[in-house]
Amino acid sequence: MMAHTMLHEYAFEMATSAIRFGSGATREVGADLVDLGLKKILVFTDPNLRHLPPVITTLTSLDANGIEYSIFNRVKVEPSDESMQEAIRFASSREYQGIVAVGGGSTIDTAKAANLYACYPADFLDYVNQPIGKGKPVPGPVKPLIAIPTTAGTGSETTGVAIFDYKPLRAKTGIAHRRLKPTLGIVDPENTRTLPPQVAAASGLDVLCHAIESFTAIPYLDRPRPDRPILRPSYQGSNPISDIWSSEALRLTAKYIRRAFADSGDDEARASMILASSYAGVGFGNAGVHLPHGMSYPVAGLVRSFRAPGYETVDHAMVPHGISVILNAPAVFRFTAQACPDRHLRAAELLGANITNAKAPDAGRILSDTLTLLMQDLRMPNGLKALGYGTEDIPALVEGTLPQHRVTKLSPRPANADDLAELFTQALTAF
Ligand SMILES: NC(=O)c1ccc[n+]([C@@H]2O[C@H](COP(=O)([O-])OP(=O)(O)OC[C@H]3O[C@@H](n4cnc5c(N)ncnc54)[C@H](O)[C@@H]3O)[C@@H](O)[C@H]2O)c1
Repeated sequence: MMAHTMLHEYAFEMATSAIRFGSGATREVGADLVDLGLKKILVFTDPNLRHLPPVITTLTSLDANGIEYSIFNRVKVEPSDESMQEAIRFASSREYQGIVAVGGGSTIDTAKAANLYACYPADFLDYVNQPIGKGKPVPGPVKPLIAIPTTAGTGSETTGVAIFDYKPLRAKTGIAHRRLKPTLGIVDPENTRTLPPQVAAASGLDVLCHAIESFTAIPYLDRPRPDRPILRPSYQGSNPISDIWSSEALRLTAKYIRRAFADSGDDEARASMILASSYAGVGFGNAGVHLPHGMSYPVAGLVRSFRAPGYETVDHAMVPHGISVILNAPAVFRFTAQACPDRHLRAAELLGANITNAKAPDAGRILSDTLTLLMQDLRMPNGLKALGYGTEDIPALVEGTLPQHRVTKLSPRPANADDLAELFTQALTAF
């Protein structure tokens, strides 16, 4: 009995940023900085957003409140280790008291990394997740970061995670620590008004996967217990509080994602999707994600020439994050459903499937069929083949997934290299 309690986790911890939600709340950011006593700040954004309303509104508010600022507008969409290091050099060479990040996950993640290394200089791989990096914990508090998301979205305004493509291995990895959570997330539905429909679809499907993966992740009690509380990971497995946020995110996404895709002028749909994005962020930020995300990292990292419609302002080949995740999801849920069929059925039900009389062995098929219908409605590419991958790429895709322990070990059903090869094979064609 004693050995059991020593080996298994017995506690979970919820952590999230403060969140302010409201149409027009971006205008308050200058006053926030004054109230925090911050006079000299850095503004992070990407080149496309630099001249769009979310950034203009932010800068107007800073000017009105007498805040001094320097702008870094070279955030790379789908950041890499190189683009992160450029941002780190920018922050490290300036005196600043805090950061405002206005953009999607790419911008908010880049700001988190730049702030970390400017506050606690280190070799780039020191804080990066193991086994790619050394996984050192963030040594102390970082400077305040206010995140203003413009997609709905990654939920990065709520999480202590910063993701980037590690070019030497051509696979995504990241830095994850509670101390990287923004001080405040200003969640303003006005900021997604200019989102191209395809970006609304891809980022909305990221919300959906955050919600289903955190809801179906292994229970936190099944993880090993850490030696010290500081070593308890952010991604702890499904737990009763994350479940609430993840399932509500799923319900909202199911109700509004098609409307947000069809009409960026639909205020109710836009507001509900950006709210769902933060809800899912709270859920997965504490419970974690699993195989669809773990498998997405090499799908994004090994990209050759794919360019997604709606992302025309991006100057390089890339797979939008939400697309790289959702294309794996139907195959994964058919595989994982046997580990916790009730949760897979509940997810399908929240997405609108009729599960009356559904039996446990049907759970994976029902959830994956529900997802593929939605993917077709949102004009997703028809599987990894449509991104340019073929059977000859499967070994490299598997190899790029194996180091993603931090997330893959949260799968309710363990997947070895052969299982992953089968999942990627199934994911070549989605519908
Ligand atoms: N930190 C986390 O917890 C977390 C979670 C999930 C994903 N991510 C990461 O976030 C990144 C993806 O972020 P994303 O999906 O939010 O998109 P993004 O930041 O990569 O932006 C995608 C494109 O949309 C444009 N765009 C964004 N907002 C816009 C707006 N309001 N109007 C017009 N154009 C707009 C951008 O300029 C860009 O061209 C990936 O690198 C992914 O790995 C991080």
